[in-house]
Amino acid sequence: MSYSQIITLEQFIVDQQSLYKDADGSLSRIFRSIELAAKVVNRDVRKAGLVDILGNQGTSNTHGEEQKKLDVIANNIFIAALAKSGEVSIIISEENEDPIFLEGAEEEKYIVAIDPLDGSSNIDVNASIGSIFSIYRRPTASKTAKIEDCLQKGKHQVAAGYVIYGSSTMLVYTTGLGVNGFTLDDNIQEFCLSHPDIAIPTKGKIFSINEGNYSDFPAGVKSYIEYCKAKDKDTNRPYSARYIGSLIADFHRNLLKGGIFIYPPTEKSPNGKLRLMYECNPMSFLIEQAGGKASTGETRVLDVQPNDLHQRVPLFIGSTDMVELAVSMLNEEALVS
Ligand code: AHG
Ligand code: MN
Ligand code: MN
Repeated sequence: MSYSQIITLEQFIVDQQSLYKDADGSLSRIFRSIELAAKVVNRDVRKAGLVDILGNQGTSNTHGEEQKKLDVIANNIFIAALAKSGEVSIIISEENEDPIFLEGAEEEKYIVAIDPLDGSSNIDVNASIGSIFSIYRRPTASKTAKIEDCLQKGKHQVAAGYVIYGSSTMLVYTTGLGVNGFTLDDNIQEFCLSHPDIAIPTKGKIFSINEGNYSDFPAGVKSYIEYCKAKDKDTNRPYSARYIGSLIADFHRNLLKGGIFIYPPTEKSPNGKLRLMYECNPMSFLIEQAGGKASTGETRVLDVQPNDLHQRVPLFIGSTDMVELAVSMLNEEALVS
């Protein structure tokens, strides 16, 4: 492809802006900050091994300072960039217990929830990690930002997306008009449109779940796993098991190839592990926009009324046919037992 054919993220966003009648450029400014933060985090991720070496030398200094972890670094980068956009009044982050009210921005109309570094356990082993974002408009009823403004259902998101730091770095997002993916061209440091209008296949061949917890799974989830592993020519089974332990990486693969990702309720954690506001909701908005489905096993994820910023919900997400079957098996077995 010649450079004249390239569509950069920046250009794409400007072009899309004209499709929204009330667009005043404020969401585009937030996207610009996210894009910048993604590039900076990407730079740090790419030299994480080297930073560790340098960091170790640094920690032997007389101050005995603890070495900063990449998820703290990523959190600071995203917060600084979003604050600079001037459009965001509150940031919710996995790394901060309380919401962050940005000074001087109390009246700004957007709230952004972030998982600045998803899949942190994969940092040290050089596997894919990512950053997730979810954007809401503050309800107009309150003049200045309040904590209650944050507890909105996922269906009210105005935009959501993620950056995956994989074998290449990509930014994938939706504003409710489909899902588009942009690959970072290292040479020109621009995200370029590489995956327009992503649609997830209705049926897939991949199931992603941490099977190590099998004995703790509800009966219906166990049955679904057995179904995935059983031989059947007509339905192309057995399916392939793929699970890396980074939601973004597992999600991204299934989004492109078709598949299901499950983080079920377990006896120990009846709400699963993943957090609604900055993991499940943004991924659910994306999957629905790509033609797939996301459920807690009981209800559509985007319909869950949050009661806590860091609350967890079980997640069944991916190709529509697979999610529907997994959820129906979950509920059938629940009725039997
Ligand atoms: P984070 O690194 O942001 O804390 O998220 C980790 C999450 C998610 O990325 C992944 O799908 C899940 O944890 C893996 O959990 P298990 O190790 O229990 O499988
Ligand atoms: Mn995460
Ligand atoms: Mn995280």
